[in-house]
Amino acid sequence: MERRLYSGRDVKRAHSIDDLRAMARRRLPNFCFEYVEGGAEDEATLRRNRDVFGEIAFLPRTLVNVEKRNQSVTLFGARSASPFMIGPTGYSGLMFREGDVKLASAAAAAGIPFVLSNVSTVALEEVVRRAGGRVWMQVYMYRTREFLAKLARRAQAAGIEALVVTTDSAVFGKREWDLRNYIAPLKLDWRNKFDVLRHPRWAANVLWPHGMPRFANLGDLLPPGQNSVKGATITLGQQLDPSLSWDEIRWLRDLWPNRLIIKGVLGAPDALRAVQAGVDGIVLSNHGGRQLDSAVSPMDVLPEVVEQVGGKLSVMLDGGFRRGSEILKAIALGADAVLLGRATTYGLSAGGQAGAERAIEILQTEIDRTLGLLGCPNIAGLDSGYLRYLRHASPLPQTRTQARHAHDEALLA
Ligand SMILES: Cc1cc2nc3c(=O)[nH]c(=O)nc-3n(C[C@H](O)[C@H](O)[C@H](O)COP(=O)(O)O)c2cc1C
Repeated sequence: MERRLYSGRDVKRAHSIDDLRAMARRRLPNFCFEYVEGGAEDEATLRRNRDVFGEIAFLPRTLVNVEKRNQSVTLFGARSASPFMIGPTGYSGLMFREGDVKLASAAAAAGIPFVLSNVSTVALEEVVRRAGGRVWMQVYMYRTREFLAKLARRAQAAGIEALVVTTDSAVFGKREWDLRNYIAPLKLDWRNKFDVLRHPRWAANVLWPHGMPRFANLGDLLPPGQNSVKGATITLGQQLDPSLSWDEIRWLRDLWPNRLIIKGVLGAPDALRAVQAGVDGIVLSNHGGRQLDSAVSPMDVLPEVVEQVGGKLSVMLDGGFRRGSEILKAIALGADAVLLGRATTYGLSAGGQAGAERAIEILQTEIDRTLGLLGCPNIAGLDSGYLRYLRHASPLPQTRTQARHAHDEALLA
């Protein structure tokens, strides 16, 4: 017999991120849900991001006093209530009115950082002002460097703590399930138009009274009147710079005085280059399976990256995290923090700020419970001794890993 999920709208009745996902599926028209959900091409990367967690099991300790439990961590010298934050997701205003502010406010209320995507529908200054809390901002390296410099100056004036440069998107990945909804770029087919009519709750919240939300940070980059999704998508496509190299990161390093983080590293050699470029942190990421298909999961390479650069910069990662226990597996392998993409977007899509807050609350309680069951009351004491690999697929056997590092170091010398 098929098991039945809760079918209502009260986000408090969601017990897992999967429950929020099911609620998001019901509230959003198909084309919006697919924008969030899908991965590139055969979605092998997307699957790998989830499958990797099943290969790592916990080895708990027993008869440990776990009456008081602590999951807070220090990130760049300041406390974060939990070892995770909300990562950048562009165009969140399509899921819920002023989605960026709702996500940022949920993060601030929970005492965790929020990373604003530069393709937001609320201006960065307004997000910082209305949400409070720790706000970081993600940017792409646009061809028009002066625009990027201007954006960085605005971010600095607004009090943005860290700039996160996404480096895995010099070429657009192909999300085929997303594309199938359109007859031409951004022109929905009749089935999807009809589907929008069947979602009046979403339409009243997102479309009324101005229609599709517009991008709010790209004013200087887009030609006048072109901040619509269509205008922006065309211009952004032309603006993403496939000639990007580490030199530009050094240029940005000289320009930006606060924390600088690179998002999109997958492996120890690039992590070492990031150290050399003088950045403060990296986010191991395959963009949630939305760019290169058949890529490794950040979890696959986390141990070798930590071994090479741990202590020299902050090592964060994202991709596939839907449970508190999964976040703890990453922390046990040496990560400083985890970024969430879809998990909090499902919450936002299911119920705005309350939904995003519920997503965070679910993960925080899962982490708290798992620490108790592991016999590890303080997250600072969590290490790989609490884990066992079920199948020796990753990381690579020591000897081969070491040989590769020797080779990489020779390359870098
Ligand atoms: C709807 C959506 C929009 C995204 N937009 C951005 C973006 O604007 N900038 C960026 O660096 N990453 C973006 N990402 C990637 C996320 O920051 C993150 O790398 C990824 O979602 C992590 O995987 P997860 O969704 O499985 O947690 C987006 C992801 C999703 C799902």
